[in-house]
Amino acid sequence: MKTQVAIIGGGPSGLLLSQLLNKAGISTVVLERKSRDYVLSRIRAGVLEWGTVEMLRKAGAGARMDAEGAAHGGCYLASDGAMFRVDFNAFLGRNVMVYGQTEVTKDLYAAQDAIGATILHEVDDVVLHDLTTASPRVTFTQNGQSHAFTCDFVAGCDGFHGISRPSIPAEVRHEFEKVYPFGWLGVLSRTPPVRHELIYAAHARGFALCSMRNPMLSRHYIQVPLTDRVEDWSDARFWDELKARLPAEVAADLVTGPSIEKSIAPLRSFVTEPMRWGRLFLCGDAAHIVPPTGAKGLNLAVSDIHYLSDGLIQFYTQGDPAGIDAYSERALARIWQAMRFSWSLTTMMHRFPDSSDYDRRMQDAELAGLMQSEAAQRAWAENYTGLPY
Ligand code: APR
Ligand code: PHB
Repeated sequence: MKTQVAIIGGGPSGLLLSQLLNKAGISTVVLERKSRDYVLSRIRAGVLEWGTVEMLRKAGAGARMDAEGAAHGGCYLASDGAMFRVDFNAFLGRNVMVYGQTEVTKDLYAAQDAIGATILHEVDDVVLHDLTTASPRVTFTQNGQSHAFTCDFVAGCDGFHGISRPSIPAEVRHEFEKVYPFGWLGVLSRTPPVRHELIYAAHARGFALCSMRNPMLSRHYIQVPLTDRVEDWSDARFWDELKARLPAEVAADLVTGPSIEKSIAPLRSFVTEPMRWGRLFLCGDAAHIVPPTGAKGLNLAVSDIHYLSDGLIQFYTQGDPAGIDAYSERALARIWQAMRFSWSLTTMMHRFPDSSDYDRRMQDAELAGLMQSEAAQRAWAENYTGLPY
């Protein structure tokens, strides 16, 4: 077997890359460790930057998003009692699209099926060989049988725990990490969203977020200590705590109901540099993790794929390596901007267990500054809705 681009991982990064390359006549093989059902059972964030919306349309995977997604022209930020709206439309004439990542992945699988792409599921023991030669080789097992193929390039789209990043020698990699001393408890419920747009709420009891998937499906999060377990949080306790952290007029409107999913996720920031080694490119969560506060995880994966797919198409159609040579630098420039935004929003909105009175006053001053300044809100909106590619 031989292909032009081997893609490790069938999450949103791998599927989108495969789709864009296939559409340009470049052959790919996607290797995914899990089953398709498992990949589609993962619940992740739900806010798409407009650049992401346009990339999904370009890939031929945007029709259901356009029909079922909700364009939002702003969102709310709350601090203890007070709440204000950042108006993306007024500042920038831009929206974000609220559409769950699980649905994005489903649509990408459907688009890949429609063009007959090769996706191998439940593969194990993927190993990358000869990455610094012109003809890398990929070996793996499936159903107990060993397989191998050669390719021109490998795209490592296999997430934070994948094998692609550690295939780059440790002495070449420079890794940057920040782990936050709390997690997010997320709850999905068949209840109407409390407002039409998202609410990010800072409170002395900790951060809370009101998000949604559709008019009858809400997604809420509250900051919790890392030592908490899901079993510690009955539905009743969760709703009480969420209400306590929201402005009173919002809490009064909150419709509660049984949870249909409940999980706790830790918050971290992570970047590895460079994102290319020989003929291996890292994309998405394989190269970087952001805390969910700015909803940048999927959006950064999509901007990586924008730079890499353009570079590979330029290479195959014009014989020009400029785009792939610039990939790591271009992708990282945008990633660090999104890292900064996610870190600053996380720092401004959460209660840190070791924070001093001074630290808390700084958080209050930062939120008050944002509330009072149109210039600050505009800059915030630019980052939230997505910096240009
Ligand atoms: N071999 C093959 N596949 C693997 C391997 C491996 N050794 N290790 C991991 N995978 C698969 C995982 O099962 C997963 O389906 O790679 C895929 C990686 O998908 P994601 O973790 O979703 O990462 P990515 O596609 O980069 O998506 C970007 O945005 O909001 C974030 O975390 C969120 O998933 C999201 C991401
Ligand atoms: C979500 O809807 O799951 C969501 C929305 C915004 C975030 C994080 C998660 O910042």
